[in-house]
Amino acid sequence: MQLEQFNQDFFDFLHNSPTPFHTVKNLADTFDKAGFTRLQENETWKVQAGNGFYCIRDNGTFLGIKLAAAPDHNPVWRMTGAHTDSPSLQIKPSPVRDSHSLTQLCVEVYGGPLLSTWFDRDLGIAGRVILSSEDDTLITRMIDFKKPVAIIPSLAIHLDRTANKEHTVEKQKHLFPLLCHSTESKHENSFNDILLQQVKTEYPDLVAKEILGFDLFCYDTHTPALIGVNKDFIAASRLDNLVSCFVSAQALLQSQTADNCLMLCSNHEEIGSSSMAGAQGNFLNTALERLMPDVSNRSKALHNSYLLSLDNAHAVHPNFPEKYDPQHFPLLNHGPVIKYNSNQRYATTSRSAALYKVLAKEVDVPIQEFVMNNDLACGSTIGPIAAKILGVQTVDIGVPSLAMHSIRETIGAKDSYMLYQTIAHFYSRPTLPQAED
Ligand code: CO
Repeated sequence: MQLEQFNQDFFDFLHNSPTPFHTVKNLADTFDKAGFTRLQENETWKVQAGNGFYCIRDNGTFLGIKLAAAPDHNPVWRMTGAHTDSPSLQIKPSPVRDSHSLTQLCVEVYGGPLLSTWFDRDLGIAGRVILSSEDDTLITRMIDFKKPVAIIPSLAIHLDRTANKEHTVEKQKHLFPLLCHSTESKHENSFNDILLQQVKTEYPDLVAKEILGFDLFCYDTHTPALIGVNKDFIAASRLDNLVSCFVSAQALLQSQTADNCLMLCSNHEEIGSSSMAGAQGNFLNTALERLMPDVSNRSKALHNSYLLSLDNAHAVHPNFPEKYDPQHFPLLNHGPVIKYNSNQRYATTSRSAALYKVLAKEVDVPIQEFVMNNDLACGSTIGPIAAKILGVQTVDIGVPSLAMHSIRETIGAKDSYMLYQTIAHFYSRPTLPQAED
């Protein structure tokens, strides 16, 4: 696949994935088309070598598996990990209030967004709703309004002359998106009525009694774009970390190796991964136990396996170079970044980094390296969690990005394609180099 086509497909994926639930649905559709079989956690798994499978947990976490050989006989797994969630504003259970003849939404802050960027945006609403059917089964459906239905207006500069000096956002006070003019009707019912109407629009044949719950998020309806006089940059929402979800899926679908391959895209990374769907949950581990029931074989396999943990890195911001370590300045469009942290906030070791360097060099992809400025706290990702749970060699890598956790982030137009080249090579190299013990 060439760069332009790759970016166009990536834009479509991004635009159609406003929430983790939509991301997973889109991944599942892609894997269905490629002939993969869905495995259900509440059924016995019947897997044969030479086939592809996938499994979903709680609608927001996706595990893709390509079995080249019977899993209990094959010594090596090639794995990637990424996350499906992004910082956002999540709609509260009782979500509507009236103020000054305006109806407003009540939201919670999900993860760590740059809140100042959420003002004056054309916000859509999307996510998962749970409905009851006529016979009282619980129905799950994804909905996406696909149009701006809310906005959080800033306070005018004339009413706050300090606005350009101080960016304080009070979360409980300042974050109420406008939904509509107030009406006389009861709000709880009217919000559920709005949701039911949206369900009917998207699923005209569905017979449902009432809405019993929802996980809904606001998102920016602005489409992804190539930016710059030479189209050097990509600006979009949720680049952290849908770049890595898209890249790993594209690479796994083309894998050609005698080893077994796996990709995990986990929900809840932005809130610490500690949930049934998150990387600290037991999803990946129980899946591997079901694929390799023999403890000794599983230990042998994981000892020889590698995990590439994919999550965006910080490119140097030209307006703030003092925030970075001067020996480690990742640049946009100069290739994926290996992330190091001596306190293992990133799982990279010299051994796992060496594997990645071999892969990148073989496909002529440049290598960049990042460590955090010693005076700043280092972020983390699912790499160290997976390394701890599985006991597997792990390297943390990702595309360099600017404005991480803004509602609209920026990356280089070439970096995700270069990441794809290295991951595709990881999934296709005849054998992986093994490090001495
Ligand atoms: Co991330």
